[in-house]
Amino acid sequence: MTRTEHDSHALLEALFDPAQRSDPYPAYRAARESGPLVVPELNMVMFGRYADCEQILRNPGSAVDRRKSTLVQRAIADGADPAVFDTDSFLQLDPPDHTRLRKLVQKAFSPKRVRDLQDEIATIVDHQLDRVAESGDLVTDLAYPLPVTVICRMLGVPVEDEPRFGSASQLIAQGLDDFVPTPEPADEGQRQRLDAVRWMHDYLRELIDQRRTAPRDDLMSALVAAEESGDHLTEDEIVATCELLFIAGHETTVNLIANAALAMLTTPGQWSALARDPGRAGAVVEETLRWDPPVQMLSRVAEREMTIGDTVVPRGETAVLLLAAAQRDPAEYERADVFDPDRGPTRHLAFGHGTHFCLGAPLARLEATTALRALTARFPAARLLGEPTYRPNITLRGMSHLPIAVD
Ligand code: HEM
Repeated sequence: MTRTEHDSHALLEALFDPAQRSDPYPAYRAARESGPLVVPELNMVMFGRYADCEQILRNPGSAVDRRKSTLVQRAIADGADPAVFDTDSFLQLDPPDHTRLRKLVQKAFSPKRVRDLQDEIATIVDHQLDRVAESGDLVTDLAYPLPVTVICRMLGVPVEDEPRFGSASQLIAQGLDDFVPTPEPADEGQRQRLDAVRWMHDYLRELIDQRRTAPRDDLMSALVAAEESGDHLTEDEIVATCELLFIAGHETTVNLIANAALAMLTTPGQWSALARDPGRAGAVVEETLRWDPPVQMLSRVAEREMTIGDTVVPRGETAVLLLAAAQRDPAEYERADVFDPDRGPTRHLAFGHGTHFCLGAPLARLEATTALRALTARFPAARLLGEPTYRPNITLRGMSHLPIAVD
């Protein structure tokens, strides 16, 4: 299929339209079927086919540090403050800094350390299900508080502060939707996000200071100890690492749990099948990760020219990977649009691939399987009560409310 400039703009608009958050899949399909979308004015190419996305994640020329993008370099040459583009978050750093920082937190997320959290997670779920029984809102009372409570406990952030930091975390997560970096905050939304980042950094710095004088048995104290033992971890790096884990703990697993629940409620027989057979939980989670992924797109900067299929991404340009489109690619999956936990193992890309593969994957899987198993067992006859409400986020797309009847 050939595409006119007009089609390309219409497609971009559909992909990024906040009003289409409840069902962006027709736009993803269009993007996938018409092939890579080159957007010259943004120095960007968007990919929606599975094979292309996988190839980019494997490509040694693909980088995550946006300072390598020609748009950023041009902005700096035009007088923008380079500090605006600095980051100490290893999600956005390439090796060797990425390797050093990732290694320091890897241990805390090992399968064994995560398995040790099983009882604690089950207790939180039981408590939250009592709330769901009263409110009937699966997001507010289960999908959101579970991962938030767990990451707060792991890091040592007081969960009582949630009303203060929940909205900051949400604003920062929306920053991921700015695929094309701008040197100055151009609009109100960006200004609010910058304020949220400043607030979050001050908040974390205060807690880090407390850990310096009174260490505890938490991840933040462990990072402070690593810094003090001369492991080349600066205070800015500790702040950025805590922020990364904190936001990841707030904005991703919530979508996995809610998306899985919605998929089961809207696909006949799936909810009751899990209620009858708790052993299906793992398959339900993997199929949700494929069919309706919590992280819908990723981006990479071409550190050197990349040839992906027939498309060239020139050095310094950005490749946007539409994971949610790729994971319904009929060239990779039979009946790709059908939610079918019985389809067997899928090589989905929902946790990324390669160097930046999600560090929290074992934790997210454990939280989601525990929550879904308990949820369906406790409310085996639950049904959807009205339409879910979606947040405006594009990359970390998810619901703010999912109303169910549990009686
Ligand atoms: C269902 C839930 C989750 C999904 C779908 C998810 C997805 C992802 C994806 C796609 C990436 C790769 C990003 C890229 O390649 O650019 C990633 C990286 C990462 N995730 Fe997750 N994530 C989830 C939960 C979590 C949790 C609970 C944590 C920890 C609290 C976490 C921590 C991280 C970290 C630290 C990275 C950066 C890894 C690196 O750059 O080396 N994630 N995640």
